Amino acid sequence: MRSLQMDWTKGTNACSYREQARQRRKPQFMTLKRNDVPARSSQCNGRPDHAVALLRMQGEHDVLPHYGLDRRPETAGLRVAVVGCGYWGSKHVRVLSATPGVAGITLIEQDLALARSLQVRFPTTTICTSLNEALPYVDAVVIATPPESHGELALAALRARKPVLVEKPLTTSLDEARLLVAEARRSGALLMVGHTFQFNPAVRELRRRLQAGELGEIYYIHSARLNLGLYRPDVNVIWDLAPHDISILNFLLDAVPRSVDAWGASLAFGGIEDMAYVKLQYDDPKVTGYVHLSWLDPRKTRTVTIVGSRKMAVYDDMAEEPLRIFDRSVHGHEGSPPSHERPAMYRYGDIVAPYIRPDEPLALQDRHFIDSIRQNRVPEASGEQALGIIAALEAIDRSMRNRGQVTVPSLAELEPRRDMRPPVGDRHAEASSTEMR
Ligand SMILES: NC(=O)c1ccc[n+]([C@@H]2O[C@H](COP(=O)([O-])OP(=O)(O)OC[C@H]3O[C@@H](n4cnc5c(N)ncnc54)[C@H](O)[C@@H]3O)[C@@H](O)[C@H]2O)c1
Repeated sequence: MRSLQMDWTKGTNACSYREQARQRRKPQFMTLKRNDVPARSSQCNGRPDHAVALLRMQGEHDVLPHYGLDRRPETAGLRVAVVGCGYWGSKHVRVLSATPGVAGITLIEQDLALARSLQVRFPTTTICTSLNEALPYVDAVVIATPPESHGELALAALRARKPVLVEKPLTTSLDEARLLVAEARRSGALLMVGHTFQFNPAVRELRRRLQAGELGEIYYIHSARLNLGLYRPDVNVIWDLAPHDISILNFLLDAVPRSVDAWGASLAFGGIEDMAYVKLQYDDPKVTGYVHLSWLDPRKTRTVTIVGSRKMAVYDDMAEEPLRIFDRSVHGHEGSPPSHERPAMYRYGDIVAPYIRPDEPLALQDRHFIDSIRQNRVPEASGEQALGIIAALEAIDRSMRNRGQVTVPSLAELEPRRDMRPPVGDRHAEASSTEMR
């Protein structure tokens, strides 16, 4: 990959934007010091990313602008790297390119043909094949690579003090997740996880109603996440799909499960579980969640059903009306169980589908990431919060293997130790030293 040194002032006498602002003069010419290709600022709107797009139109495809923080106007937004531009990463690129506060996007993708085809759709993006190479030139990083690689990439970004949004699952082990949280604290960089459903307007409305007590006492929650595929090579169906269900349940209940009980099977290929049933036990509030996960189901299903003592609710992500509140319940006679003489009484009332704004959850999530960086605040779906989810996922794996209930450590028990560092010779340490060179 080639790198372009940009000088935003006339001639070679460079000075920072801060300095230029102080002197109340705007840069008039941009000199791109590679083969002395000049580009007038009027053609580029004074923006490095536009300049790069211009160069690309002239046949220069592998360019990454070499501009540091000190060269940007104070009003400029953040330069975001999206690592992994496959199915989900390309969606990040789409929403980030329309997110206020984002000044430019660098596509970091091993498959150059894929990156180039994405660049055709988003011409102001730049391409780079390695995160370490791009880190000095970006302000924030979104990681949307396969789960096995999250830990290493996120650690490299955090060590360079870059705020990171990591796709779910944060990592494929609890140790790795704790290491990331420890590194985020040490470096002061923000760590957020792509628990997209927490930004889903229907889920947020459901939580509002639940916490206002509209459904009464919660008897149970059932969640189903089923479809045919996609089989992933590096994680089983639980690590692929259950982060969503656990994050939704934790978010709705404002709690983390204290124990899990799981059963899973490797049906189509063997070796990797492709369907599972999981029971999540919450202590406060005392609620049981049941989750059905499958890569082997003919119909795509994304539902969460909540059964309460006063009302019931169904959130169906595939439906036109994603949230429905059923004014239905069952009662005994003065608390006594039903009998032939005194059968249970059923109450059937209205079914209400509240209006849900059709905002795209991923766009809301990514905007929250950018806003949190700019406003220097802890994001929702933080790294700390994700620890509870990763701990539950590990416990589920153990429960499946050992066929029994497994206790999940509490958030206090999950707190990373202050001295947590990767062992010497660890692949994370190697990634970091590469970056320092
Ligand atoms: N939040 C959600 O709703 C949601 C939905 C789908 C996927 N995801 C998550 O997004 C992540 C990616 O999933 P996907 O379905 O897009 O996978 P994918 O296989 O379609 O894309 C991954 C891309 O990453 C690239 N890649 C791998 N390692 C890389 C590296 N070191 N540097 C640069 N590029 C690299 C691959 O070439 C590939 O193009 C996963 O963690 C997945 O769980 C989240």
